[in-house]
Amino acid sequence: QTTPQPTGLSPVIRKKLMGYVGFANLPNQVHRKSVRKGFQFTAMVVGESGLGKSTLINTLFNTTLYPAKEPVHPSAETPKTVAIESIGADIEENGVRLHLTVVDTPGFGDFVNNNDSWKPIVENIESRFDSYLEQENRVNRLKIVDNRVHACLYFIQPTGHSLKQIDIEFMRRLHTKVNLIPVIAKADTMTDEEIGIFKQRILSDIHHHNIHIFQAPSYDNEDEETIAENEEIASKIPFAVVGSNTSVTTPDGRKVRGRAYPWGVVEVDNEEHCDFVKLRQMLVRTNMEELREYTNDVLYENWRTEKLLGMGVAQDSTVFKEINPAARMQEERVMHEAKLAKMEAEMKMVFQQKVQEKEAKLKQSEEELYARHKEMKEALEKQRLDLEEKKRKVETGRPVTPDNKNLSTGKKRGFLRT
Ligand code: GTP
Repeated sequence: QTTPQPTGLSPVIRKKLMGYVGFANLPNQVHRKSVRKGFQFTAMVVGESGLGKSTLINTLFNTTLYPAKEPVHPSAETPKTVAIESIGADIEENGVRLHLTVVDTPGFGDFVNNNDSWKPIVENIESRFDSYLEQENRVNRLKIVDNRVHACLYFIQPTGHSLKQIDIEFMRRLHTKVNLIPVIAKADTMTDEEIGIFKQRILSDIHHHNIHIFQAPSYDNEDEETIAENEEIASKIPFAVVGSNTSVTTPDGRKVRGRAYPWGVVEVDNEEHCDFVKLRQMLVRTNMEELREYTNDVLYENWRTEKLLGMGVAQDSTVFKEINPAARMQEERVMHEAKLAKMEAEMKMVFQQKVQEKEAKLKQSEEELYARHKEMKEALEKQRLDLEEKKRKVETGRPVTPDNKNLSTGKKRGFLRT
């Protein structure tokens, strides 16, 4: 059985195996390699102060990644811009290592004017793309460190109204650069009904502003169970979450992670109480690899294309030419020679220009000298004529006798009246 292929490619022939070959083991090879290498994941948390970001991250990874923060003294000087801080931790579960980096953005939304709160965050995400691109362009690319942000948890204040201007502005600016995962913070402060209505409003705002939030991709050959799981996760977006690192005792005597109130206990890991379990499932259990893949294949790729095009690097995307090293060297040589010839022509031009300037200067000073010489000559001539005139006057005033002649010469010599 053959499958038709686009012209120029050899047809694919489907064959039935006669026995065991072993490539069914390929997934296991990939699994072993991945476990050996470990995984890198970078998550960013953005939201106004006090919405429970640190608590949720600690709850998500079941570790005190974030130390408890010292309360800020009212007199302490408040920073003027959004800061970017990252914390890294190596965590291990059943022999699988995860290097987790959490990027926090303290200060977001805390100012009187929050118009530009998104700017430092976009800059940080882009500088991480920049660093990745720079590593990709190195001669030695063996040790590429991936610091790109793979997911951004955006914390929405549980107001029950709709998205605020700052939320919309942030998401509009960021959705093409990072996988956005909106979460409703401190969901235990709202009733189920309020959460339902709030979610609808948030989604319609997101839709209205054409904001793209991360959705797990669905593949044709996926099994029904995974499809149903993905659909269930998607139905919970934006996730209404509750965070807590302390365990409390429920009225029926169970020890759970949750928040105790006089009227009962909110359980973090209970799907009836909040969407924390679904968020963790998407972020860690089901879609971590997809988040990484989407960051690399779509978000980074789009940014990279835009950046390179902006720098004037063009590529014919429809025709991928086979790269022939000899032809490429020849092309480079021709380009180099053309560059040299251009440089030579430029140098010649500069030289000629300089010579012309020098000649013009010399000519000018020659003319000046000539003019001065002429002036002096004329002055001397005038002086000579004046003297001759004087002499003539003297001679005409006194008749010249031989004595007179001697007298005048004798005076000059200093032996008169002897
Ligand atoms: P900054 O560090 O200032 O940005 O705050 P943050 O967003 O990291 O908040 P943090 O985790 O420090 O929590 C602030 C307060 O909210 C703490 O007293 C938490 O105990 C409380 N808190 C955290 N999560 C929840 C939640 O889900 N529900 C309720 N009701 N309170 C919460």
